[in-house]
Amino acid sequence: MPLPKAELHLHIEGTLEPELAFALAARNGVELPYADTEALREAYRFEDLQSFLNLYYELMAVLRTEQDFADLADAYLARAAAQGVRHAEIFFDPQAHLARGVAMGTVVEGLWRALGRSEERHGVSTRLIMCFLRDESAESALATLEAARPYLDRITGVGLDSAEVGHPPVKFREVYDAAAALGLRRVAHAGEEGPPEYVTEALDVLGVERVDHGLRCMEDPALVERLVRDRVPLTLCPLSNVRLRAVDTLADHPLPAMLDAGLLCTVNSDDPAYFGGYADDNFAAVGTVLGLSRDRLRELARNSFLASFLEDDEDRRARYLAEVDAYEFGDTVA
Ligand code: ADE
Ligand code: ZN
Repeated sequence: MPLPKAELHLHIEGTLEPELAFALAARNGVELPYADTEALREAYRFEDLQSFLNLYYELMAVLRTEQDFADLADAYLARAAAQGVRHAEIFFDPQAHLARGVAMGTVVEGLWRALGRSEERHGVSTRLIMCFLRDESAESALATLEAARPYLDRITGVGLDSAEVGHPPVKFREVYDAAAALGLRRVAHAGEEGPPEYVTEALDVLGVERVDHGLRCMEDPALVERLVRDRVPLTLCPLSNVRLRAVDTLADHPLPAMLDAGLLCTVNSDDPAYFGGYADDNFAAVGTVLGLSRDRLRELARNSFLASFLEDDEDRRARYLAEVDAYEFGDTVA
């Protein structure tokens, strides 16, 4: 049994495995420019974030109906459960679907078909976080928040993703203010490819409660000190960082130094269908390659529940933390 954990940085569109992509393409009469799943997997060699995003947006063409979104989310939740995920806070990218003529209701209701039954079917509690695409305009983000109004009872928070460099957090001040006024929680990708200043800006201007990635904070000691002091969680994604070349190899990942610095780090899978591993695969990789002790791995699992948006269900958080504390590692783990 894997270590119990929460997954806090997971793009549902990034869980689209090649087999499901081809099945949905056939169901919807969509032509994919790849001969088969093998040929598609061959395309999973990325230079950087943008080269990944190009494929990520291209494959979304197969997602058209509520049932497609339900099938996608249900497949993720089954895999996540098998990897010890007990709670998942799931990102989705509505603008990428609205632009293709797929309505907000189709996306949210479809996802909800799976999320609403997740506890009963998979033993995984869930939250939904709507992301704005930072390479789209601020006006488009505001229109997206407006389109989500009928579904806000299903949406816990807002996030910010897509191509980072050249799209600083300040561009989205207004929509984050509006989201806060609606009672939504706030997170944002920052410091993945972008500079540490974007992390500072996400905190100061957008009021984020968690930073997604935040890797490059390590270039700014004053920022690290602030993140430690204020207990700001970082949702790190080690296998993603290797595949998108934010680090040269996993052995170069700064996670051990970040933990030593006292940062509240969590380990997540980002876009697992593309990056070679789900939540526990990321834990196993950092455990073995970075030589993290069992205590460190347990700390990462505890952090994931501490950083999760479970303020409306503290009993559940306490139960999950107790599960982590009671967990007994098998012989195979370092
Ligand atoms: N969208 C999906 N995955 C992403 C990532 N790792 N960074 C930014 N945007 C994304
Ligand atoms: Zn991400």
